[in-house]
Parts: sequence; structure tokens; C-alpha cells
Amino acid sequence: MRSVPAIVFLVVSATLSVTLAQSVPLYGQCGGSTYTGSTTCSQGVCTFVNDWYSQCVPGTVNPPSSTNPPSSTNPPSTATSNPPSNTGAAPSLPTSFRWSSSGPLISPKNDSRSLAGVKDPSVVYHNGRWHVFATTAKSNNWGLFYTNFTNWSQAASAPFFYLDQSGIGTGYRAAPQILYFAPQKLWYLIYQNNNAAYSTNPDISNPRGWTAPKTFYSRTPRIIEQNIGSGYWVDMWAICDASLCHLFSSDDNGHLYRSQTTLANFPNGFNEPVIALQDSKNMLFEASNVYRYADNGYLLLVEAIGSDGKRWFRSWTSSSISGTWKALAAEESNAFMRSNNVAFPSGTTQWTRDMGS
Ligand SMILES: *[C@@H]1O[C@H](CO)[C@@H](O)[C@H](O)[C@H]1NC(C)=O
Ligand SMILES: *[C@@H]1O[C@H](CO)[C@@H](O)[C@H](O)[C@H]1NC(C)=O
Ligand SMILES: *[C@@H]1O[C@H](CO)[C@@H](O)[C@H](O)[C@H]1NC(C)=O
Repeated sequence: MRSVPAIVFLVVSATLSVTLAQSVPLYGQCGGSTYTGSTTCSQGVCTFVNDWYSQCVPGTVNPPSSTNPPSSTNPPSTATSNPPSNTGAAPSLPTSFRWSSSGPLISPKNDSRSLAGVKDPSVVYHNGRWHVFATTAKSNNWGLFYTNFTNWSQAASAPFFYLDQSGIGTGYRAAPQILYFAPQKLWYLIYQNNNAAYSTNPDISNPRGWTAPKTFYSRTPRIIEQNIGSGYWVDMWAICDASLCHLFSSDDNGHLYRSQTTLANFPNGFNEPVIALQDSKNMLFEASNVYRYADNGYLLLVEAIGSDGKRWFRSWTSSSISGTWKALAAEESNAFMRSNNVAFPSGTTQWTRDMGS
């Protein structure tokens, strides 16, 4: 229910360079069980985060000690089964950002759906392919589609699979998040349907394999009803740590909500949400994303509506998902992503000033 359907996706070259560059930039992916790209960091050290993800983080490589035996039989020393500490500061990240935009990458097809736009992409790279889940928009009619390709140069021509052809079915569904839940060996597609919904699938490449929608809550949580005003309950986002899974959502009215359940109970048992962050309606609008970085850092992005009426992203960090969020780049003059820090290289028209999803 994001109210401004962007006609096409913004995908920034900073993201693409993670897989295309010869060596990996700071904070890029440099390893993981399904990762096939470069494992050499152009800056920093390639650090194990989990079985699926290693990342270039600031630091220097320790010189190998000639007296120690090779460590290949030991588990990686940064692997952790403990919950991240709630007390320490989050690992530092850059505090200002500059982006470079490609042209439009994926647009509505010329087909009987006659879509007005496609938006809200959630993207994973798995088994050598990019898998994209996104929203279809047509007047006040929202749905989901899936597409996949090996190279972004093929994104525009890859066919769409409209997910109403799967168990997900027809009706209001929007703002997907694709998530692999390793303990159950299942993919979860999380989306809004007037509640916080999910479908599961053991095989991400089988778009007919998604189950019928189930919801994380039996009804709209009371705290949301009490705070939503004339907004909408939208944009659910799940992320787990070593012991808990957390579900974020927004109300288009200045509130970011979070609720939790145990890893063992997921997807059941989410408790009554709390307000994780609060601001004016436009400064904390919707589209929250929470990512883990390094060993114990979490990055929160939330979309705002700017003084110029255009969308932009603010950012915060925390050392725990349930912790206090500290502003990182959260002002119009120092945004995480806004029209004033996104460049359109020559040959690329400035096709949007809305830096949203
Ligand atoms: C889609 O169809 C319209 C006419 O209905 C045409 O003008 C346009 O070029 C077509 N676009 C593509 C990408 O085929
Ligand atoms: C992707 O396609 C582009 C353009 O055709 C090409 O230059 C690039 O090498 C391809 N990347 C990979 C990883 O194959
Ligand atoms: C790619 O997407 C199509 C649907 O457009 C699907 O049928 C196919 O199985 C997918 N392939 C892979 C390898 O994911």
C-alpha cells in the first residue's frame, strides 16, 4: 500500500558492484556457501558472518604466524552461536553515502495485466540466479510477481510469474520480503494483505510451490489500532538473531513497530508489538528494512517523505535488533539515500527523484 507506485526499480550500482567487481568493496559480500563472486576485499578483511555470508569489514589482515599450524581444521573463530550482545556499540559504518543509479531495470510487461507499475523489490542471489519478488500496481489493485535471471543485463527481458497463479491466490497482497529460514529449510515470502501474511516454499525456483497465505497475527494488534490514525498498516519485515525472530511493520503515521517470537516457535507466537521508533508521520513513513552487518551490527532503513514531497531513506544502527536505534544518516542534508546523494551517470536520464521502494 505504498501510495506512490514507482514505475520501475531503482537499483544502485553500489549493489551491483558487490557481484561484478574484481575485488569486493568495504561491507560487500566476500563469501558464503552459495556465493560465487570474488573473495578478495579491496579494503578491509573478509570476515565470516554466518554459513551463507562473509563480509569485508574494516581492519587489517593479521600476518600469518610461521610457528602456528594451519588453522583449516578449526571452526572459524568468529562463528558464534551466542545471541549478539545488547550492550556494546554497533560496529561503525560510514556516516555519509553517495549512490549512482542505473536506468530502469524492470518495468511492467506489455500483457493483459496492463500494470501501472512494479515496485517494492526483494532480491536474493541463490544458485547462480537473481530471484526478484515485487509488487504489481494498477490503480488500487495490488499483487505480487516473481522473476529470475543470471545477470542484471537480462532483468528487463526475464518473464514475470504472477504469484496469484500460486497458492498465494488473488486479492490484496503487496510489499514482499523473501527470507530463507534455515532451521526449517524453507523459503518464506512475507507480505501485507491487511494483516502480516506469509507463504512458504521449499524451492525458491518453483513459483507454483507457494502455500496459501497465513497470518502472523490473529487480528490487527491493539497498539497499532491505537496509533495508526488515518494511516495504513504496511511493509512487514522479518529478521532473526540466534534466539529470536522479530517482525517489523509501519503505520504511515510515524510509528515503527516490532514484535518477537522464539526461533523455535517461528512463524507462530509473535507477541503484541512495541513501538521501536517514533517520529512525525512524514519522517517515519513506511518501508522498513533491517539488515545484519559484521558480527553484531544491525542497520535499519525507513522511508520518509521529504520537505519536497519526494521519498527518501533514513538509516540507524544498533547492536541488537530489539535495542535502541542510533541515527546514522537520517537527515535530508545527510540522507542514507535521497535525490541529493544519487547521481545519474551520463547516458542515464534522471528518471526519478523519489528514492523509495
Ligand atoms: C507495448 O505496447 C505499446 C502499444 O500498446 C507499444 O507502443 C510499446 O512499444 C510496447 N512496448 C514494448 C516494450 O513492446
Ligand atoms: C553481465 O552482462 C554484462 C553485459 O552483457 C557483461 O558485461 C557482464 O560481464 C555480465 N556479468 C557476468 C557476471 O556474467
Ligand atoms: C525462473 O522463473 C520462471 C518463472 O518465470 C520459473 O518457471 C523458473 O522455474 C525459474 N527458474 C529458476 C532456475 O529459478
